[in-house]
Amino acid sequence: MLGSRRHFPALTAEPDLVYLDAASGTPCPEPVIAQLTAELRGPAANPGRGGHPWARDALRRVEEARAAVAAFLGATFPDEVAFTRGATGAMAFLADRWGPAALEKGGDILYCPGDHLSTVRPWLRLAERMRPQGVRAVPYRRDRLGRIDADDFARAASDRTAVVVVTDVHNLHGTRTDLDALAIPPAATVCLDCSQSAGRLPLRLADSRAEVAVVSGHKMFGPPGTGTVYVRRGQHHRIAVDRAAGRSGPARHVSPLTDAAEEGSLDGAGAAALASAAAFVDGIGLDALGDHLAGLAARFTDGAARIGGVTLLGPPVDPRQPHSGIVAFALDGQAGADVAFALERRRVYVRAGDHCLDGPRDDAVRASFHLYNDENDVDRLLQGLSAAAERT
Ligand SMILES: Cc1ncc(COP(=O)(O)O)c(C=O)c1O
Repeated sequence: MLGSRRHFPALTAEPDLVYLDAASGTPCPEPVIAQLTAELRGPAANPGRGGHPWARDALRRVEEARAAVAAFLGATFPDEVAFTRGATGAMAFLADRWGPAALEKGGDILYCPGDHLSTVRPWLRLAERMRPQGVRAVPYRRDRLGRIDADDFARAASDRTAVVVVTDVHNLHGTRTDLDALAIPPAATVCLDCSQSAGRLPLRLADSRAEVAVVSGHKMFGPPGTGTVYVRRGQHHRIAVDRAAGRSGPARHVSPLTDAAEEGSLDGAGAAALASAAAFVDGIGLDALGDHLAGLAARFTDGAARIGGVTLLGPPVDPRQPHSGIVAFALDGQAGADVAFALERRRVYVRAGDHCLDGPRDDAVRASFHLYNDENDVDRLLQGLSAAAERT
């Protein structure tokens, strides 16, 4: 199944297209489409809003989906996971509804200014709001290849550190963070952005140093606008629950996390389809997937290094180590948007532009491989890049 498009109708419909933008959004495979369709065709009552059989059944399906997604992420308890509209919404939720209690005595929020704006901005806003209570946002750096500078992190960390915001896999450089290599103060709580690792690399949140985390569903084959927020039970007391909001769905109480994060009507169909995306990835196996992505990334970096004028914007890829499948590069003297357009004309879709970062280099281009890509896709990218390089 690895390297095959056959489960992806959007890709089989355009056999000559090379889609290399999974890090923005993955196409949905057949089982996810089938699940979503079944949910919409069936008794589509509002989960928990009513005691009749349709509403009860809808609620049961949401809880089954929660248990499945929690198991996929390696959470200990299903009630540590709530459904959101994506990682952006999940991170904003954490900063708004968990952050204030985590920082009530003041303290520092450690963050990386080179990370995705959705990861960083909610915490900067919170630090600004809580400045009178002694809260500060303290930056730590990445190097030019996207690796967190452990020395700079150690300089930023102190006994004032209350919250450490970390990205598991960087959305441009594709680098994975080794939390054990960072001098994280023992009393600090780690908030992990797993947007680019979930569905690509094995996650065991229960064993992780991170106690709160966010996941993007549409980057792991779920329907657009799905995601989850993870808060370990030991952190539930810090969640601000609006009791009045809870009254609109009394049958839906699962945990303080779900009460607060799932206020209002829930996208039950999206939750069920996200669970089937998790089952789809599990069926393939994350170990095999990480190896497949490492092979593709290594083939690309080996080939790109032989093209004059290409600069790789990530560390060397070891094909024997699981990899995110996200690679970034720049072409001497060419804007990223021009390179992406040249590739687009050859039916190779990559990402250029601001990469949702604060001031990235404007020549940066990202290619993100996933399970449906194969070596031929890598070679099409390399051919396009060679042709673009010849123009300079
Ligand atoms: C690291 C990271 N965090 C957060 C997000 C936002 O994710 P979502 O699209 O689910 O809101 C992205 C999306 O690209 C990302 O790469």
